[in-house]
Amino acid sequence: MSPRAAYSRLQIALHWLIAVLIAATWLTHENMGRALKARIETGASGFEGNTPHVWLGITVFVLVLIRIVVRRVKGAPGPLPGATPLMEKAALWGHRLLYLLMVLTPALGAVAWNAPSRTVGEIHETVGGALMLVALAHALVALWHQYVKKDGSLTRITRPQG
Ligand code: HEM
Ligand code: HEM
Repeated sequence: MSPRAAYSRLQIALHWLIAVLIAATWLTHENMGRALKARIETGASGFEGNTPHVWLGITVFVLVLIRIVVRRVKGAPGPLPGATPLMEKAALWGHRLLYLLMVLTPALGAVAWNAPSRTVGEIHETVGGALMLVALAHALVALWHQYVKKDGSLTRITRPQG
């Protein structure tokens, strides 16, 4: 896991594909509260409630698991030029938090849907909201690095190495 100058082609593809799929899952959440209520009331089981939100979310879950394995094998580029130890720690823990939320959100959604459980559904909503907020903050910090600090942050996740 020696430091490289950029993420690999596969890591970059997964980063952007997952970001788009998370946005799509978010945008299709609209009727899920009602669908879950109906599922609880009718005692429905299995996958008859075949909604884009569920399928997109499960795809995110599977791709994130693959991405974590790839990350462990390929590692990540070293610290950004000019990064202080505090900034390095913030990036490390910020990224770990994003991975955790990306696993937890769809996993909780799947439990809420299949149990089915209103309470787990509410926890899923809260954790999903946290994922969106942290991802937004992450994107803003990335843009700040790229265009204010000009340390090539975005280049590492757009131009592959390895
Ligand atoms: C990255 C993945 C996901 C994100 C970002 C996400 C996000 C959300 C959000 C924001 C809501 C709130 C809707 C509202 O306020 O009415 C919601 C609801 C819901 N989602 Fe997801 N979701 C994801 C994956 C999944 C998966 C994989 C499933 C099921 C297999 C699922 C099942 C549900 C259910 C059942 C609800 C309704 C919860 C309730 O009203 O109590 N979600 N989701
Ligand atoms: C749902 C949306 C997103 C999620 C969940 C997400 C998640 C992540 C994670 C977990 C990493 C760390 C990769 C690793 O070290 O293994 C990362 C890297 C990165 N992301 Fe995102 N990301 C999202 C959207 C964005 C957007 C919109 C931008 C740009 C505007 C962006 C810019 C970056 C950059 C520049 C890096 C590399 C940081 C570095 O060089 O250390 N991300 N992203």
